[in-house]
Amino acid sequence: MESFIAGLPKVELHLHIEGTLEPELTFALAERNGISLPYADVESLRAAYNFSDLQSFLDLYYQGADVLQTEQDFYDLTWAYLMRCRQDRVMHTEIFFDPQTHLDRGIDFATVIGGIHSALVAGRKTLGVSSCLIMCFLRHLSEESAFETLEKSLPFKAWIDGVGLDSSEVGNPPQKFARVFAKACELGFRVVAHAGEEGPASYIWDALDVLNTERIDHGVRCVDDPLLVARLVAERIPLTVCPLSNLKLRVFDSMADHNILDLLDKGVCVTVNSDDPAYFGGYMNENYQALADSLMASKEQIRRLALNSVEACWLPEKEKEVLR
Ligand code: HPA
Ligand code: ZN
Repeated sequence: MESFIAGLPKVELHLHIEGTLEPELTFALAERNGISLPYADVESLRAAYNFSDLQSFLDLYYQGADVLQTEQDFYDLTWAYLMRCRQDRVMHTEIFFDPQTHLDRGIDFATVIGGIHSALVAGRKTLGVSSCLIMCFLRHLSEESAFETLEKSLPFKAWIDGVGLDSSEVGNPPQKFARVFAKACELGFRVVAHAGEEGPASYIWDALDVLNTERIDHGVRCVDDPLLVARLVAERIPLTVCPLSNLKLRVFDSMADHNILDLLDKGVCVTVNSDDPAYFGGYMNENYQALADSLMASKEQIRRLALNSVEACWLPEKEKEVLR
């Protein structure tokens, strides 16, 4: 099974570039930028990756991003992830970035996106890994801040394929960003949102109907509402599910309780993704392997999951054909 998964051409659709910051790179960038970290070494930083829920993770994740200062830092971060893509046979990846995390620390939009974009171009050329870029709004911040971020992104619009919504879900429903997403749609951005990770199934309905999203990030709480599941099946609305993330953030008590294969067998277009692999203990192959180990996923199910990602991605149809 391990070699079957390793050999399968894969597509990743739910990956926060800031969540690929490995402790080794955190320390290297801290040293390069003259920043002192509140951890003695790589091991003690990694030991702090022990989360009880989404918020306990987000607190460390935003703190970790402090070491990202220069365009070269964002380039190095993105490049390291693309090397992992090649290692895991990820042929195409659709990457989230969180500009507000950096703007609020005084880092320019151009610095952030310049480094990420240059690495993506180099990844296409020298590693053969294609990519899209999705700008996420932090839902714990205001609508006004999201509008300001959208405005700042416009000079770089050609480099951004879509917008998304992430950060603390409960208490920050899709409605809060209805007007920002309407504007983003009008400007020609594609639209996705995190919903139904910790939040209720109603947030998934609202992401679809209020924000007009074409995919749902996570979405595993859809099972609480059979009508919603029926809609996801009927409309083939993709869910970008992240098994190891769900385990680490205690969305499920154990991997054996995960519902991804139930959803697959019901006909939902579920996909496998790594979310924040540096924090959750595994990249793409490890996420697939967890389904084989704990849910006894068959090769046929693994293949269907990988094909769902090809169906759900934003590549033109001709380029999708090569991946099937
Ligand atoms: N959920 C919400 N916000 C996030 C996540 C997530 O899984 N990862 C990074 N930001
Ligand atoms: Zn996520």
